[in-house]
Amino acid sequence: MTAIQGFIPASRRPGELGIHSLDRFLFSVPDLAVAQRFYSEFGLDIQTSGSVLTMGTYDHPHVWGTISEGPRKKFGYCSFGAFEDDIDRFATRLQDMKIKRLDPPPGVQSNGLWFNDHDGNLVEVKVAAKSSPDEKTRFLFREAAAGERGAPFRSALPRTRPRRLSHVLLFTRDVPEAMEFYTRVLGLRVSDYSGENVAFLHGIHGSDHHMIAFARSDAPGLHHLSWDVGSVDEIGAGAMHMLAKGYDRGWGLGRHVLGSNYFHYVRDPWGSHSEYSADIDYVPATCDWKGGDQPGEDAFYAWGPNVPEDFVRNYEAN
Ligand SMILES: [Fe+2]
Repeated sequence: MTAIQGFIPASRRPGELGIHSLDRFLFSVPDLAVAQRFYSEFGLDIQTSGSVLTMGTYDHPHVWGTISEGPRKKFGYCSFGAFEDDIDRFATRLQDMKIKRLDPPPGVQSNGLWFNDHDGNLVEVKVAAKSSPDEKTRFLFREAAAGERGAPFRSALPRTRPRRLSHVLLFTRDVPEAMEFYTRVLGLRVSDYSGENVAFLHGIHGSDHHMIAFARSDAPGLHHLSWDVGSVDEIGAGAMHMLAKGYDRGWGLGRHVLGSNYFHYVRDPWGSHSEYSADIDYVPATCDWKGGDQPGEDAFYAWGPNVPEDFVRNYEAN
């Protein structure tokens, strides 16, 4: 007998207006071939589409990001996904808040709502399927039984292939303003923050502890893209593969406190990072996350190597 697959609606918090996903991001780099190599080795499914590269993850149909060619590495925009019956309410909200609607950037065909955020970054809210997870993503820790070998042989260690985008961290000139804008306009909620230095925001319809985060700088920019993997072994295998391919700078292995994820960051060829992330905290649509202002020295990371001196340098600032 064939099982009939029922339609399972995305998780949703009733009665509140907020985006549900970070549907797509765009940034530009000076050489697409360099980007193709880096992100392919990182384990992403990178495809050429016209004059841009698309960033996918294997076994997932979504396109998480787009990379275009430009004179230097530069963050472009974030496009957020909303439920169809919310989009008119977003348009009304923008009007009520006197936020000017803009045309999409040249070459982008999307009829969403385009506007600038507090920092002048281009933002879109559009109707899209929910690509943020509806439940906490599986994390595997396999404990070996007595009399059994726990570790894989190196030759049996598979290539790490991230499952999905977890979050994007952007530089901003003003973290409190970012918190204000993204909560009031896009309907995100602040999970945790550290003074005026960093803030982590989640979607109200169920998302990771942060789908977007902001760190203080003197200019906007992209700090890192974070990609979900299923185990600490996958983080280690990914980091070792990147090292073998010459991408020897980064930070990890460690564990964050805000978000709780295990991490290893690989520095990309332009001074920003891609993060292997595992077991990040999840905020269901039914949960009011109990977070707040957390002291940086206690909350940045629980354990890990010393932070590289240029880890939070914004190479887009000059
Ligand atoms: Fe991260």
